[in-house]
Amino acid sequence: NEIYLNGLTGSVPRLPTDLTRLEELVERRLGPGPVGYVAGSAGSGSTAAANRAALDRRRIVPRMLRDVHQRDLSVEVLGRPLPAPLALAPVGVLSIMHPDAESAAARAAAAQGVPFVLSSASSTPMEQVAEAMGDAERWFQLYWARDREVTKSFLDRAKAAGFTALLVTLDTPLLAWRPRDLDQAYLPFLHGVGTANYFTDPAFQAGLAKPVHEDPDAAVMHFVGMFSDPAKTWPDLAFLRENWDGPIVLKGVLHPDDARLAADAGMDGVVVSNHGGRQVAGSVAAADALPRVAEAVGDRLTVLFDSGVRTGDDVFKALALGAQAVLLGRPYAYGLGLDGQSGVEHVIRCLLAEFDLTLALTGHARPGTVGSADLDLEQ
Ligand code: FNR
Repeated sequence: NEIYLNGLTGSVPRLPTDLTRLEELVERRLGPGPVGYVAGSAGSGSTAAANRAALDRRRIVPRMLRDVHQRDLSVEVLGRPLPAPLALAPVGVLSIMHPDAESAAARAAAAQGVPFVLSSASSTPMEQVAEAMGDAERWFQLYWARDREVTKSFLDRAKAAGFTALLVTLDTPLLAWRPRDLDQAYLPFLHGVGTANYFTDPAFQAGLAKPVHEDPDAAVMHFVGMFSDPAKTWPDLAFLRENWDGPIVLKGVLHPDDARLAADAGMDGVVVSNHGGRQVAGSVAAADALPRVAEAVGDRLTVLFDSGVRTGDDVFKALALGAQAVLLGRPYAYGLGLDGQSGVEHVIRCLLAEFDLTLALTGHARPGTVGSADLDLEQ
C-alpha cells in the first residue's frame, strides 16, 4: 500500500520495485569482483538459467469471484508462526556487499518479521548477528566441518545465541567450478572473508599452532582444510541429531530418495535447492525437483524451496509446487549492496507486496489454499 501511495504523490522509490534490476545497479556501484561472486554460478550458468526457466514455464491459472478482500499471509513453518512464507537464505561473506554485512541484513529481516538464516561462512560472528536481532526469529546454517569439535562448538554457540532451527547444507562438500571467480581471481575465502565464526571459535583456535592474529595465512589454510568434508554419509547425521535438539533441515536436497533418507534419519525438513545454480552445472532445476520431493515426503517433512525466486509470483508458484515457504538469496544481497539495511527491507517489502497481490488476483485469501490446481497442467 505504502509503495502505491507514494507513487500517487509522485515520490519515486529509492530502489526499483522490479527486483531483477538490482544486479545491474549494484554492479555499477561495487564493480565486477564482488558482484561476480554473488551473481555467478557453476560452469556456464546452465543451472541458474534452468532455475529461472522452470519457474517461468509454470503459469498460474487465476480464479475469479472469491472473497479476497481480507488476506492473511501468515504460515506455520517448523512449528514457528511466520508472518509470510519467506525467509532470507544463508548467504556467506556479505561484507563484500556492505560493511554492515550480516548484521544489517539480519536487522532488516527482524524489522520485517522474516526469519534470517545466518551462514556458517558469515563475515560477522554469530553472537554479534544475534545481538543485532533481539528476539527475532533466526536459524543457523551449518557447513558441516571435517572437525567434530568445531561442528559441536558451532551448534552449542548457535543454540546459546538463540538460533532455533539448524539448516545443514549438503550440496557443498567442495566448492564448484565457478568460472567468473576463477577468471577474476576473486575468491573471498582465500582472503579470510567469511571466516568470522571460525576465527572466533575456541575449538577452531585450539587446532592452530599460533593464534589467528599471529599467523592469519595459516589460519585461513586451516579453515580451508576443515570447512567441509566430502567423506560424510547419511549415518553421520546421527551426530547432528544427538547434538541439536531443535528442528534440523537438510539444504540442497533434489532427489526424492534423498528426501526419504532425510525423513528416515529423523530430520525435520528439507530445502529443495541447487544453491542458486552455484554447485552442479547441468543440474535439475530446483522448481522441477520440488513437486517430486513434496510428493515423496510432504506428509513427513517440512519442505522449503530456494533457487531462482525473484518475484511474488515465483513465491506463489513454489507453494503451488509443494513448498511451505521459500528462501530468498541473491536479491537481498543486492539490496544490501545498494542501500544497506533499508535496501534489504525494500527487497522483502516488494516481494511480499507482490506476493500478496498475486494471492488476491488469483483468488486466494491465504497461502494455505494455494496448490497444484492453481497451475496450468499443460506446462
Ligand atoms: C549462497 N548460498 C549459500 N548457502 C549456504 O547454505 N551457505 C552459504 O554460506 C551460502 N553462501 C552463498 C553466497 C552467495 C553469494 C550466494 C549467491 C548464495 C546459497 C543460498 O543460500 C541459496 O541457496 C541461493 O542463493 C538461492 O538462490 P537465489 O535466490 O540466489 O537464486
